[in-house]
Amino acid sequence: MATERGIEEEDPTNFFVEVPGEPRRKCIDGQMWPSLICAEHVRSAKRYQPDDDDLFVVTFPKCGTTWTQNICTQLMHSGYAPEHGKELYLVSPMIEGKGAQAVKDLPRPRVIKSHLNRLEIPKGPGVRYVFVARNPKDVCVSFFFHHIAIKRQYEWTDGKFDDFFEIFFAGKLEYGNYFEHMRSWMPHYEDPNVLVLKYEDMLTDLPSAVKRIAAFLGGPAEQAVATPGQLQKIVANCSFDEMSKEQRRFFALDNENHSFIRKGQKKDWLNHFSKEQSERVDRMWKEHMTGTPMENWWSEEMKYEERHE
Ligand code: A3P
Repeated sequence: MATERGIEEEDPTNFFVEVPGEPRRKCIDGQMWPSLICAEHVRSAKRYQPDDDDLFVVTFPKCGTTWTQNICTQLMHSGYAPEHGKELYLVSPMIEGKGAQAVKDLPRPRVIKSHLNRLEIPKGPGVRYVFVARNPKDVCVSFFFHHIAIKRQYEWTDGKFDDFFEIFFAGKLEYGNYFEHMRSWMPHYEDPNVLVLKYEDMLTDLPSAVKRIAAFLGGPAEQAVATPGQLQKIVANCSFDEMSKEQRRFFALDNENHSFIRKGQKKDWLNHFSKEQSERVDRMWKEHMTGTPMENWWSEEMKYEERHE
């Protein structure tokens, strides 16, 4: 009997990409995906027919997806208690990882995670999207640590940051080019069914971010934050310290010794980027983002300064 891998190697629409010196990944229908993802789930995710009370938390990876899912789940499923069997990644799964049917089977209203770009995200009347963005330099560093930590997926535990920098900014990894992904969402920045949040603003003022999400969701979510003590409870449950105590609630790979909730800071990139790398990203930023609403979003967060940790 042929192995899954054997079949995939014969299939030009679905095969592993194993380039020496680069993280392992999968090419499905011409796009890069994490190597453990199944082609049928990706395809079904793109065809998913949403219900009108579905909420998507949409991001480029490492922009604060899990954090925002945790907030939205607490707001929309009052009494959500993270006991065994109700881990966040089960209650609020990534649709392209689990497939459309697994998402359809969840109780409504659903909080669905996705890294699909705007073109490919499922759409329908009433469907809402919380889009979270983070500056590219911190995304790159966070994604690097993600790649070296998850051996089963990437086979790249001895990867070096300088190599990752090149591969990442060339758009060769899962979900492709950061800038193109961001740009795909920007024309919808002010759509009434889209809420745009910045990771860095959430770090500065989490209660305000939770209130903004609640106001966007309306109904029980809005009532929840108006109930005495509830806002404080949600903010406490979603703090970095609380979430980092419960790593296994957030990520499904059991055997990895991986801090998914890792550092939770802005400008950690200064501990990893050279000045030259920083300037290269500044140039890419200008090239891709000039004239978009994001143009000046991270002037401070992306500024280079000498730092020694
Ligand atoms: P770092 O690796 O920079 O620490 P995603 O969920 O999109 O994969 O994003 C992961 C990033 O969000 C990680 O960034 C993680 O530590 C950070 N994060 C998760 N929960 C957080 C929280 N409660 N407060 C601050 N950052 C958080």
